[in-house]
Amino acid sequence: MRHSSTAPRLTRIRGELAIPASDLANALSERIVGQPAAVEAIVPYVQMYQAGLAPEGRPAGVFLLLGPTGTGKTRTVEALAEVLHGSEKNVLKVDCGEFQMEHEVAKLIGAPPGYLGHRETQPLLNQQRLNSVTSDRCSLALVLFDEIEKAAPSFTRLLLGILDKGILRLGDNTTVNFERSLVFMTSNLGARRMMKELRPDFGFEASVERPLADSHRKLESIAMASVRRRFSPEFVNRIDRVITYRPLDEEALAEILDQHIADLQRYLEERLGPRAFSIEVPPDSRRRLLREGASPEYGARELKRTLQRRLTQPLAALVVGGKVEPGARLSLDFDREQERFFLRAL
Ligand SMILES: Nc1ncnc2c1ncn2[C@@H]1O[C@H](COP(=O)(O)OP(=O)(O)OP(=O)(O)O)[C@@H](O)[C@H]1O
Ligand SMILES: [Mg+2]
Repeated sequence: MRHSSTAPRLTRIRGELAIPASDLANALSERIVGQPAAVEAIVPYVQMYQAGLAPEGRPAGVFLLLGPTGTGKTRTVEALAEVLHGSEKNVLKVDCGEFQMEHEVAKLIGAPPGYLGHRETQPLLNQQRLNSVTSDRCSLALVLFDEIEKAAPSFTRLLLGILDKGILRLGDNTTVNFERSLVFMTSNLGARRMMKELRPDFGFEASVERPLADSHRKLESIAMASVRRRFSPEFVNRIDRVITYRPLDEEALAEILDQHIADLQRYLEERLGPRAFSIEVPPDSRRRLLREGASPEYGARELKRTLQRRLTQPLAALVVGGKVEPGARLSLDFDREQERFFLRAL
């Protein structure tokens, strides 16, 4: 639950929220660290929608997000939901890994009337669920199809219908209209080959030496080649923008850690109110946390968990044991000799 430090200016066009492009870009860049291509690609589609200029008969924007794990693909959609709707939860998320078998696809659209299980199978996607992720600020629904490469072929055909006509026909013959939505698909296709490409200069320092633009172009072409091998040309042609996420460098990972620590502090204040206390994490400890929780292979994926293990859990133990005074200041220090973190009252 991240709070905006720069709240975007909000005006309305025909009752619809309208955010100036620069404000939207700033609010997103703050939340999605080190992925300027993602922000640049998405902002114009939100603007077209808000101006009432999005094309009819198809979703307002279709994006394919590619790249290594833990680099911010899913986070991007959550961050956009936070900025547009005020909560990162305003996303209709479909985990395509749950639809690997043909028979599972009925879960998505519901079984046709008369079929066994017709009454029990409430479709996962229906108009009501789509509408429920919009808000009174903004009528644009964000839909996330995660890991599309795992889905069964019939699922991909349904998806093609959504991208092509903006319509999904359900088992009971009703339809879901996606014209007021942005569709995001994520995939790890090509990610392994991308990591191999990066491996010669694995490690942070080396990757800075190589011209970044070059290696980024190379990653893009690896990703696109894998996508073309897996999906039909009709499918690929209906994607508005393919965004290739970059591996996060040391600076980006450090910024993400800073955000997590700031989030934790805010969370403490919210939850504990007058009993809250403050935490400090000196630079040396931050370096240790980064070494433990971040890597070119897993990106920032383990960072939150590392912080939880090294900071939140020991803090919880102190709180439960009544060992922290309200208003106290605690520092998360690292003992180099014993190679362990410890909390110290300041
Ligand atoms: N670029 C980023 N900016 C801010 N936070 C990030 C970024 N990348 C990763 N994170 C942090 O790491 C967590 C995992 O990232 P995310 O879920 O977006 O990875 P992903 O790219 O979708 O990976 P996967 O391919 O494994 O699904 C996020 O919840 C967020 O806390
Ligand atoms: Mg993801």
